[in-house]
Amino acid sequence: MAFEVEIATVINGTPLRRRVSARQHLADFLRDELELTGTHLGCEHGVCGACSLLVDGEIVRSCLMLAAQVDGKRVDTVEGMSESGALAGLHAAFARRNAAQCGFCTPGMLLTAHELLAQGRPMSRTEIREFIGGNFCRCTGYEAIVDAIESVLEQSK
Ligand code: FES
Ligand code: FES
Repeated sequence: MAFEVEIATVINGTPLRRRVSARQHLADFLRDELELTGTHLGCEHGVCGACSLLVDGEIVRSCLMLAAQVDGKRVDTVEGMSESGALAGLHAAFARRNAAQCGFCTPGMLLTAHELLAQGRPMSRTEIREFIGGNFCRCTGYEAIVDAIESVLEQSK
């Protein structure tokens, strides 16, 4: 039987206590046990950014983290961030600029863009591209995504 540990965490604002396999990745825990499938899995090697989410407010790659590591921490996924309205401006801008095509990269991209906005400073298009450079998108060529993020950044001035 797999070695299990008990964790107490807060997922999208809701406290949760659960026994988890010591070897289960955070992304798998969220998707398979909690049905939070907005966190996508692409490479599962920390490269593509599809699994990005927030742990204690910091963006992380949930394919590289174990569920056991969020014991005592807060996890915010794209579902919770969308429900709270934290991503409303970005959602609207992505829709307006057609920055989501197949949508596979979009949850991770939105959370990375949210992190970018939290820097609270102006950024050039080149800086925006660099900031989101760890999130791969196979569809858009990034132009529309940069347009969307830039427009929200402009509004927040
Ligand atoms: Fe985690 Fe690609 S699935 S970085
Ligand atoms: Fe398809 Fe980005 S919209 S991978």
